[in-house]
Amino acid sequence: MTEDLLRQPARQPLRRAVPADPGFGVYVHWPFCKAKCPYCDFNSHVRHSPPDQARFVAAFRAEIAHMRALTGQRRTQSVFFGGGTPSLMEPATVAAILEAIEAAWPLDRDAEVTLEANPTSVEAARFRGYRAAGVNRVSLGVQALDDAALRALGRMHSAEEALAAVAVARAAFERVSFDLIYARPEQSPAEWGAELARAIAEGCEHLSLYQLTIEEGTPFAALHRAGRLVTPDGERARALWDVTQEVTAAAGLPAYEISNHARPGAESRHNLLYWRYGEYAGIGPGAHGRIDTDDGRRATSTERGPEEWLTRVERLGHGIVLDEGLSRVEQSDEYLLMGLRLVEGIDRTRYARLSGRDFDPGRVAALREEGMIEALPGDRLRATARGFPVLDAIVADLAA
Ligand SMILES: C[S@@+](CC[C@H](N)C(=O)[O-])C[C@H]1O[C@@H](n2cnc3c(N)ncnc32)[C@H](O)[C@@H]1O
Ligand code: SF4
Repeated sequence: MTEDLLRQPARQPLRRAVPADPGFGVYVHWPFCKAKCPYCDFNSHVRHSPPDQARFVAAFRAEIAHMRALTGQRRTQSVFFGGGTPSLMEPATVAAILEAIEAAWPLDRDAEVTLEANPTSVEAARFRGYRAAGVNRVSLGVQALDDAALRALGRMHSAEEALAAVAVARAAFERVSFDLIYARPEQSPAEWGAELARAIAEGCEHLSLYQLTIEEGTPFAALHRAGRLVTPDGERARALWDVTQEVTAAAGLPAYEISNHARPGAESRHNLLYWRYGEYAGIGPGAHGRIDTDDGRRATSTERGPEEWLTRVERLGHGIVLDEGLSRVEQSDEYLLMGLRLVEGIDRTRYARLSGRDFDPGRVAALREEGMIEALPGDRLRATARGFPVLDAIVADLAA
């Protein structure tokens, strides 16, 4: 059943057109958190005294101006404030950064401006300020609707507090999404199905549903190695995945990407831009970018340490520590890796244009035969529900 739900009928058009040009967006990284969650390996740091936001604003302005010189003129279709915990920023900080972005790369009239927020009451109190600053979408890290699970995840909010933050967000923004982490220790498919149904009942247009991943170097990795944190095995993980697809699709929020679900038309435009291999500037500590210059597509990364980034920007006008041209093969590999995460799949003509060659017909035929990938109208190719759990292997096979 699940395979049918994920698989839009092969010979029918996709439910929305895929734009020929994936566009341009800006990612802004705010690298601070109140506390470090034991599962998280994002570039996030805890500081005893609050950072000097005015100093950071000046550095963000400088780095935006530097990136503008690299990209040239662009229009921005989406901005994403990610972290870390961007909801620790003052609304005035967000407003000043948006102003600098607007001056560098004017925002489309209907640009999507998302801010990632932690769902505590302190942060919810700032939501109206973010709205006034120009944010029009929030993505809340609810993570679980069960207090014991939230404690085990090291979260600083209860389920009730998180749902109260969702309500405040829904009153302030037209577009609200929240994240849940599933495949937690001991979690049964039936419990997860019930938790997911409660989440859907909140009425949000978008949900990000991530399977708990054990990231190297985190406290969870140490517990996992010691056998004190047991994550679901293959069969239970698959059952949890199946429940996720069934419950969301039945509620009108089908997957449009491996971990992301939305009502039709409510997909995150910024995330689609990444998966469609669009162009984006990455600003702030540890941000990645992909920008198109006269010399071709470049990958940029900035210094990860917040204070090191700050002093670097103050000294050089930018925090870039890596800036390298991407070969055709690297670009087509990245396009494949990102695009196959999407239910809309990839455009074979674009792949061929990027890489300078088509896929090996024998490999495509074998993967289709095994039910791992399927063709779509418009010369598109996508992973099937059976293929999604082994996507890395499919990408490696197709790219070889
Ligand atoms: C940058 S993080 C967090 C945003 C925000 N600071 C928060 O915690 O609410 C984005 C999302 O990644 C997910 N995430 C982080 N680490 C994860 C892990 N090890 N396994 C699964 N999901 C994870 C969480 O759902 C989180 O909300
Ligand atoms: S999950 Fe969010 S709050 Fe927790 S450490 Fe990572 S970025 Fe910070």
